[in-house]
Amino acid sequence: MKEIQLHDKKFVPYLDKETIDGAVKKLAREIEKFAQNDSVVFIVVLKGSFIFAADLAKHYQKKATFEFYRLKSYEGTGTTGEVKILVDIDRRFIEGKNVIVLEDIVDTGNTLEKIIEELQAKQPASLKIATLFYKPEAYKKDYPVDFIGMEIPNKFIVGYGLDYDELGRNLPEIYRLKEKRMIDFILFGPPGAGKGTQAQILKDKLGLTYIATGDLFRHHIKNQTELGKKAKAYIDNGDLVPDEITIGMIKEIIADPNARGFIFDGFPRTVKQAEVLDQLMKDKDLIIDALLSINVPEERLIKRLLERGKTSGRTDDNEETIKHRLQQYRTKTEPVKDYYKQQGKLYEIDGVGSIEEVNQRLLDIIGNIKLREK
Ligand code: IMP
Ligand code: MG
Repeated sequence: MKEIQLHDKKFVPYLDKETIDGAVKKLAREIEKFAQNDSVVFIVVLKGSFIFAADLAKHYQKKATFEFYRLKSYEGTGTTGEVKILVDIDRRFIEGKNVIVLEDIVDTGNTLEKIIEELQAKQPASLKIATLFYKPEAYKKDYPVDFIGMEIPNKFIVGYGLDYDELGRNLPEIYRLKEKRMIDFILFGPPGAGKGTQAQILKDKLGLTYIATGDLFRHHIKNQTELGKKAKAYIDNGDLVPDEITIGMIKEIIADPNARGFIFDGFPRTVKQAEVLDQLMKDKDLIIDALLSINVPEERLIKRLLERGKTSGRTDDNEETIKHRLQQYRTKTEPVKDYYKQQGKLYEIDGVGSIEEVNQRLLDIIGNIKLREK
């Protein structure tokens, strides 16, 4: 399964055939158990339920008949709130019968409410609701949904009968509307500039994915992944982790189709890494929008890091090592700034001030960056 385009929108893979089939089978078993030896009338709500109903019918091993309702409530990716009956069902098929409504998806519950109202007026012996998908966060009604195949988050989906303006119904799997991408940027600056602190705040405020290479290494080592095992050998020897390993880890994260954007912290550290990152992003049809450079004078950095060393327990926060790290930064890392400057993506931020002040400066700049086409 890969990303698809329907009309103006992109959709990403969400549920595979096995998952859907599992939910349908589960529903069939539950309804059989409820029906015992009685015959039921399945009301197929068209158009969306046609594939679901056909598959359920194949799994359902007891006596059943089928009737068809055709309703309309959705336009595009939103409900209109008004439900229209396009094809009705004759009363004689409902009266005195054990009726089970087969819905593809229950969202706000508007459609369901209308169906229940209409069917109840035709006096069935019993009336139950079965839906393949149910969005609990969107449901606004009190009427209980009796049989649920799967609960899903409040996201727009297509496939397996469900459409986006009539397209996508024939997909055998379910796809989910791709989240609008916000922004992808590098948070840049010397050690002690406050990158980590600022990135955490920005990540929460903007709903982005935070990629800090240090955290990545720790995560992979803790979970004993192949990449983690390789990285550990270098870290234990006090060596830098080679680029291929770091890149492997980054590749995995940026493959997440549901991410709204990435904040890079601690990577790229060299121009060579910047070139690789640009290529990695390009391979995913993404692009770095900006490099935000947090500037703090060196005397202040040394003071901050020495302060931090008193409480952080970090062995590299002593004056000698700090000076060495700053020197490394100037020679190897600082050129990354020029690399992105040439692409017109460099933004400089004054990093002197309170955490809130610096954060506001960053937000102001981010708000003004024109996003590149992705
Ligand atoms: P409700 O009336 O808001 O509960 O919406 C029910 C109807 O809206 C369904 O029968 C579908 O036709 C449509 N619908 C709701 N959510 C989705 C979705 O995520 N994808 C496609 N159609 C949907
Ligand atoms: Mg429907």
